[in-house]
Amino acid sequence: MSITVVAINGSPRKKSTFKALEMLLENIKEDCEKYLVNLGDFNIKPCQACNVCISKGECVIEDDFLKLESKLLKKADILIVGSPVYFGNITAQLKALFDRTRVLRRKWGLKNKFLGALAVGRSTHGGQEHVLQAIHAWGLIHSMFIFSESDPTAHFGAALVCKKDDPVEFDEWGQKTILSMAKKVDEIITFLRKIKVED
Ligand SMILES: Cc1cc2nc3c(=O)[nH]c(=O)nc-3n(C[C@H](O)[C@H](O)[C@H](O)COP(=O)(O)O)c2cc1C
Repeated sequence: MSITVVAINGSPRKKSTFKALEMLLENIKEDCEKYLVNLGDFNIKPCQACNVCISKGECVIEDDFLKLESKLLKKADILIVGSPVYFGNITAQLKALFDRTRVLRRKWGLKNKFLGALAVGRSTHGGQEHVLQAIHAWGLIHSMFIFSESDPTAHFGAALVCKKDDPVEFDEWGQKTILSMAKKVDEIITFLRKIKVED
């Protein structure tokens, strides 16, 4: 059974959040397909509340959303969404993507996928937990299965402090949360294989 893990970097740049997601994917030991998507490489416009997704089941905004939707969001069994903390919240780019997935919710296209969250901020207690909860809220509204980390850190997901950009330097605890989230992904993959065999 082939399992696909898709990580989405909600930062407009390829820096600390990208690095953290890269580390996470590298530490997944179970066999799976892995993709790391940079939102900054896609043009995703904000939702205009035209409601065509509700009346016709399609989004009429012309940009890169369809590319992202068909290639990645739909294909993923396990999603890991990462965002830098911007004023205690997720980035505008990530919020635009979340809002645009309303068209998928209408068909329950993301239902029962697994979702984990990762947050990077400059400060300790800079709003990382709020970012994790904002990502979780998106997943809950899509009826996804939310996961955090495995032992020894298990709390709300990977939460990091990036003290320096060049080169990227993370706090020690944050790095542990990355490793235990990778361990959790391994546990989910094992679980998915097991239930598939027992079907
Ligand atoms: C507009 C803006 C707002 C920010 N607000 C916060 C904040 O509220 N808390 C915090 O800890 N860091 C804040 N930061 C710092 C970023 O979260 C931090 O530099 C992060 O590592 C950037 O991620 P990236 O390297 O993946 O782009 C802010 C940065 C920007 C550009």
